[in-house]
Amino acid sequence: MDKMLVTSGASLNGSVEVSGAKNAALPILFSTLLAEGEHTFDNVPMLKDIESTAELLQSLGCESKRDGHTFRVHVTKLKTFEAHYDLVRKMRASILCLGPILAKYGEAVVSLPGGCAIGTRPIDLHLDAMKALGAEIELKDGYVLAKCKKLKGATVLFEKTTVGGTENLMMAATLAEGTTIIENAAKEPEIVDLAIYLNKMGAKITGHGTSVMRIEGVEKLTPARHSIMPDRIEAGTLMIAGAITKGDVLVQKCNPQDLEALINKMRESGFKIETTKDSVRVLPQDKWEAVDITTAPHPLFATDLQAQFMALMTVAHGTSVITETVFENRFMHVNELMRLGADITPKTQVAVVRGKPGGLSGAPVMATDLRASASLVLAGLVAKGETLVGRIYHLDRGYENLEGKLSSLGAKIKRVQ
Ligand code: UD1
Repeated sequence: MDKMLVTSGASLNGSVEVSGAKNAALPILFSTLLAEGEHTFDNVPMLKDIESTAELLQSLGCESKRDGHTFRVHVTKLKTFEAHYDLVRKMRASILCLGPILAKYGEAVVSLPGGCAIGTRPIDLHLDAMKALGAEIELKDGYVLAKCKKLKGATVLFEKTTVGGTENLMMAATLAEGTTIIENAAKEPEIVDLAIYLNKMGAKITGHGTSVMRIEGVEKLTPARHSIMPDRIEAGTLMIAGAITKGDVLVQKCNPQDLEALINKMRESGFKIETTKDSVRVLPQDKWEAVDITTAPHPLFATDLQAQFMALMTVAHGTSVITETVFENRFMHVNELMRLGADITPKTQVAVVRGKPGGLSGAPVMATDLRASASLVLAGLVAKGETLVGRIYHLDRGYENLEGKLSSLGAKIKRVQ
């Protein structure tokens, strides 16, 4: 199994381009199930999760073809309405096929995604939303069995903000009869990208990017072409890579507006950051102060950047309090960072990080989830000597060629067997 060998010492310099956003591409690829014909997407990142999505779409009867970063999906009438456990268990986001299949065919059978390293991550809110539109839901033998005659628009108030739940409901509501109002909708930029694509197909969605969305159901959607938005989490990870190595890194082809919470916190910590309409430059900084962060739904600090920011705080001056409010068990990286010498006291939702500038040293560590693996690579860039990060298949799920991008900035990083 591949591992990543990171050798410390290099300060990263230069410019690097961000890939398309995984978390926008996945729901958008599932939304193709709503419309027969050929869909074309540009800026689709080359990632394991995209391959898993393509496999699932294929198992349902769709064909997909990649040509570089252009990805085409040809959708015909599905040969089955069942998303099998073998495919769903590889990627939790597979639950996003539920809304589209149910809305278009009146029936869907989707495996329960099962456990996950970052908490129990239930799908009750997805199911409640489908029920609100009139679906009958039964859980049987590890599968969700959903049925309806024709979904009917309704007002749905999410008691907790859920990105996936909002996406599933948005997709289902596009073909429902009448109007759906989503209250306490997630406001993530990826929700906006999905709404843009659904509207390109003929959906009538307004209010995306705010907490109240309105969706007027239409009879039919038709395929369109769309370029996937830049990956804000990858952009943030690359910014932190520049910062932690005291380098000068220009992150291009990103949307700084989507990174406001991170930029604010990095500035508060002492970094000088310049932005243009589509780039962020982190200027070299010799020392930085510890700052506190609390993760929360967008536009607040993204949970998907918490582990990477923690890596930055392990070598800051002072003590930082990191509070995770989105997921219940998202400090799996803490023990691994401690193996590198970080001084952290983790509690259930809060981790106290006592910064040790220049105080990390290399060791073998294990990636536990996607963003945790990125944080270990970042820490490895400054942990004296060599850090060997195991289980990097997590990294391949969500970062396109991270080692190539970091190497191009001067990092000493390579994949080893
Ligand atoms: C998405 C992102 C993930 C990100 C997360 C939060 C994708 C593919 N993944 O995940 O990278 O970390 O948003 O920004 O876009 N919850 C319930 N019941 C539900 C659904 C969710 O209790 O039915 C809870 C979750 O356990 C979690 C919280 O709600 O505590 C937020 O989860 P959610 O926003 O749904 O995350 P995902 O869509 O799974």
